[in-house]
Amino acid sequence: MKNILITGGAGFIGSHVVRQFVNNYPEYHIFNLDALTYAGNLENLKDIENKENYTFIKGDITNELFINDIFSKYKFESVIHLAAESHVDRSISDPLAFAKTNILGTMILLNAFKNEVDYTKNNSLFYHISTDEVYGTLGETGLFTETTPYDPNSPYSASKASSDHFVRAYGETYNIPYVITNCSNNYGEFQFPEKLIPLCINNIINNKPLPIYGDGKYTRDWLYVVDHAKAIDLVFHKGKNGDTYNIGGFNEYQNIDLVKELCKQMDQKLGREENTSEQLITFVKDRPGHDLRYAIDATKINKNLGWKPSVTFEEGLSKTIDWYLNNTEWLENITKGTYQKYYDQQYSK
Ligand code: NAD
Ligand code: TYD
Repeated sequence: MKNILITGGAGFIGSHVVRQFVNNYPEYHIFNLDALTYAGNLENLKDIENKENYTFIKGDITNELFINDIFSKYKFESVIHLAAESHVDRSISDPLAFAKTNILGTMILLNAFKNEVDYTKNNSLFYHISTDEVYGTLGETGLFTETTPYDPNSPYSASKASSDHFVRAYGETYNIPYVITNCSNNYGEFQFPEKLIPLCINNIINNKPLPIYGDGKYTRDWLYVVDHAKAIDLVFHKGKNGDTYNIGGFNEYQNIDLVKELCKQMDQKLGREENTSEQLITFVKDRPGHDLRYAIDATKINKNLGWKPSVTFEEGLSKTIDWYLNNTEWLENITKGTYQKYYDQQYSK
């Protein structure tokens, strides 16, 4: 059996990646390391928690002794690193937390990998999951390619950019086999309702205002999370050592249009009259340093590895809404705790 460490596996994307690997590769033993911060939730993995090739480890990637210890104990062959602080708004109110987890935590993992993994002999890989936000912002036209210079604007994207640089530096300096992928905005089942889509789904269910920052003309490229997990599987197995790949949905939306599409679908599914939910749209104070537009050129992963998204945005969004409507208990459990305090602080400004 190959022991593979996945960090951040109790979070949104990580839980889909853990599920994908545990179900598809019985010959791998998947170790899911997660600190269970506010964003981590073992409820996301109920369906696979008793599988024989799965082990959960609660722990913090910034705890160096602990990380060295588990690397020495479990002899991981490869790492898929997703653990991070991931929300831009939280990075604006608490930037140091992002530096600590995203930069220092990544370095501690890289160091443990360098010292404990016999990567010269094994078919080992340090796979770092990153974001398109490291490239900064686009104007009205153009796309991010793998050679677009890094130009991050938020503490979140700066911390992710820094961690990408360290991964590359460990590759160059110590010959660590690595790959990095930079993906666009994900949406889908199990996303924490601080991000735009699940936040609006939750607010539509509860007839609460839908807060749109600024004029709502900001543009993102959206990818269904299951398609991201499939891309990660492909890159893990077929990606070239030392390479980076952009992953995107070929699917740009202005925030206001996206939220209108969401309102339309939710009105139909909830049996509400047309245009009911749109009335909840409320323009609020803009996010500082708000990037105007992200758009990914995913040609390289498409041409070299044959990946492309499997669902259209309308289909993916419909599946996502259905999941939230069928899992109101999951949503209620998350939104009843400290979430409300976060929400009040974030949206009363
Ligand atoms: P998330 O916030 O839902 O999950 C992050 C997970 O990491 C949580 O389970 C949390 O408990 C865990 N974690 C946080 N700090 C930790 C620490 N110090 N030690 C151990 N575990 C810790 O995030 P996500 O949206 O699933 O994103 C996962 C990764 O993908 C991140 O690296 C993020 O930068 C990247 N990414 C996200 C998106 C997106 O749209 N969500 C897009 C591109 C890339
Ligand atoms: P978000 O889901 O936070 O992802 P990111 O900032 O990583 O792209 O936000 C997506 C877009 O939606 C972004 O332009 C900010 C905007 N947004 C709002 O307009 N209102 C909100 O309440 C949130 C959370 C985001």
